[in-house]
Formats: sequence, structure tokens, C-alpha cells
Amino acid sequence: MHGSLCNLNSNGLFLGLFNNSGSMKMDLSKITEQFTESIIRDMTRVALQHPGSINLAQGFPDFSAPESIKQAAIEAIKKDINQYAITWGTASLREAIAAKALRYNHIKADPHKNITVTCGATEGMMASLKAIINPGDEIIIFEPFYENYGPDCLLSGATPRCIRLRTPDWSFDFNELEKAFNPKTKAIVINTPNNPTGKVFNEEELRFIAELCLKNDVIAVTDEIYEHILYDDHLHLSIASFPEMADRSITINSISKTYSLTGWRVGWAIASDRITREIRKVHDFLTVGAAAPLQEGAAFALSLGEEYYQWLAEFYRNARDTLYYALLETDLHPSKPAGAYYIMCECTDLMQQHQLQNSLELSYFLVKNIGIATVPGSSFYSNPSYGQFLIRFCFCKNPETLQKAQSYLLKIPKSTRYR
Ligand SMILES: Cc1ncc(COP(=O)(O)O)c(C=O)c1O
Repeated sequence: MHGSLCNLNSNGLFLGLFNNSGSMKMDLSKITEQFTESIIRDMTRVALQHPGSINLAQGFPDFSAPESIKQAAIEAIKKDINQYAITWGTASLREAIAAKALRYNHIKADPHKNITVTCGATEGMMASLKAIINPGDEIIIFEPFYENYGPDCLLSGATPRCIRLRTPDWSFDFNELEKAFNPKTKAIVINTPNNPTGKVFNEEELRFIAELCLKNDVIAVTDEIYEHILYDDHLHLSIASFPEMADRSITINSISKTYSLTGWRVGWAIASDRITREIRKVHDFLTVGAAAPLQEGAAFALSLGEEYYQWLAEFYRNARDTLYYALLETDLHPSKPAGAYYIMCECTDLMQQHQLQNSLELSYFLVKNIGIATVPGSSFYSNPSYGQFLIRFCFCKNPETLQKAQSYLLKIPKSTRYR
């Protein structure tokens, strides 16, 4: 042992790296120093500090999950399915995931070899990246991106390389993407339908990405947790359903959004045998497994019929329309989402009127003066200044909550009304 690093005091107690006063001198992780705590989840705490405010920041429903799914989990607990499940997921859930992946995503997955059940899509993403990344690798991500992807890349040891999705339709420049691929590129993260923009990647875009993955020997890691929340005529397409991509895609999903069960923490990753073996190792040592009885509930959820998904899409279409048309009447300029349950707004006008410097100030202004918590756009960009005039609203709320939000938004009418 190195004397300077490891000391015993006269009572034989380990002193480690503490000096006499007990304060630590060592550096903590250089990686975690590079990011902050989640702003999205922080805005939920800010909403709680403003009683009466409506939390349209963090994406979780304020309505009940389907009764039958809750009942299935209760039954599992009563049947004493209360000990560790098989590390990579109970057989019933993996079979249900495989059946659903074939039916809805046109992905052939062997429940024994290609599926790992994780603690939410969050762990699915982290375990997947840790399973494929070596130090120095690069990961391409589209920005604005779901906040977790930045820390996910860093914690897995990769450097993120961002490609901008641009308004009005959040499309990307094919040339810019092609140029971003280089010998260090290991993976590209796709999120469709997309949080925060509501973009649904179309077939032409996904085929182009697939071509680049093949040409450059790159893995597509695709987060599809909003796959059933689509508006108008938009369709969900999984890149892993292209035969040439089957072995080089990791498809991540969870029950959080589709079944309004964000607190259950059950998700999964579908990948080739070879990639799955590595994901399972990471997952095993990271979490051992997702909650056993809730996996039984999740298996039941995945067996729900088509009517459930039709109801879900219709419910969210109404919710989107309520919030979108309410925002159109204000000085916040909303972009209409094609999928997922968020609306991004361009806020230059309102910010100028109130001399707000950036989107974080704007979010605080809105929760304090209007009574609505939102997420500052800066938290979705590698360079916060790219999102300084943007904020995100979520609308996974019951109609009463959204009507209340609609009435609060009347406090920020379009400037023309009072100019
Ligand atoms: C794109 C995206 N991926 C993953 C998650 C988290 O998923 P889970 O609850 O399954 O961990 C979220 C939550 O908002 C999300 O928006």
C-alpha cells in the first residue's frame, strides 16, 4: 500500500485520503465534473417551490396508469414473485417484448439471445453504450437531444459529436451528417419520435443513416420510447427493421411512456447475440435486474390489444391540440410536434419584452409569473447558447390540467393585442 494514500491511525482505523481536519483533498471523477444534475428534474423541484403552479416540465403523466396493468403487478406480488428475477429479465416479459417487436417494429428478436430487460430505457441506454464504447470513440447525437445522452456518452467514455436538427421541421443536413462520420465514430444515437422536438424520423432519413452506418462500420442506438405517440399521418419506423441493420442496431424501449408507468423503471434493449452478451454483462453488474413483479405487470401491458394504442394516440392528439393552440395565442411561438408529448417554443419576443437574457431566466420567469414550469431550451444543446431562445412544454397531462394551463397562458397574449 502507498503510505501517502492509505493511512491507519493509532487505533488502527483507516484514514484513507482524509487530512487531519477530516476534509477530503482528492479529486473526484473528472468525468462527472463535466456535467450538471438534470435540469429537467430540477425544474420539477422548482415547480414544487411555487405552490399552485402547473408542472409542464418533466415528462410524466398526472393521470392513472391502466387499472388492468396495475392489477397484474399486484397479482405478481401476491403470488410471491418478489425475489430477484433472472438478470436479463423474466422469460414472460422477454417473450412479450419479442412478440411486440415483431408485430409493431418488424424486428425479429430471440427472447433468449437478443433481449435484455433493464431499469427503464435510461439504464438500457447506459448499459448499451458501456457495452460498445472504447475510450476515444465518438458518438453522433442529434441536437437538441434528450438531456441524458450527453452524460451517457461521457460516462461510457465517448466524445459526443452533435448534428443540428433545424427548425421549422427539425430536419438535418445530410452532407453535415456524412461529414461527421469518421474513423473514431462508433455509434449514432437516434431518438424517434423525438424528445424535445416531436420530430419523427422518416424513411429517407433513416435509410441515409443506415447507409452511413454500413459504410463506416457504426452501430445505431435507437431510443423509441414514444413509438406509439404519433400525430396526423406520421408513422413509426425502426431502423433495426432494415435487414442490413439488424446486427448493428440496438433498439431501446420501455413501458414508461406507452403505458404511463414512468415510476416502474422497466425497459429493454434489443440487439444482436454478440452485442446482447456484452449489454447483459454491464446490466448485471450495474443493477442486477429490474423489479421482478413489475416485469410481470409489464408483460401484461405488452399484451394489450390495438384499441389501447388507438386510445393513447387519440388522447395525446387532443392534449397536443389543447396546448398547441393555446400557445399559438401567445407570444411564445410553438412548433407543432409530429410525435412524442412535448412542444418546443421560440420565445425571442417575450424575452425581449421582459429583458430576459436566456432560456433559464425565461423558465424561472414563467413559473413565477405565469404559474407554469417548463424546461429551458439550453439544456438540450451541447452549447447552451443554441437553445437560449427556446423552451419546452410537456403535455402528458389530463385535460383539466391542460385547460388550467390554457387559462394561465392568457397572461401572455400575442403582442399585437396590446401594442
Ligand atoms: C427520449 C427519452 N428516453 C428515455 C427516457 C427515460 O425513459 P425511462 O423512464 O424508460 O428510463 C425519456 C424520459 O423522458 C425520454 O424522453
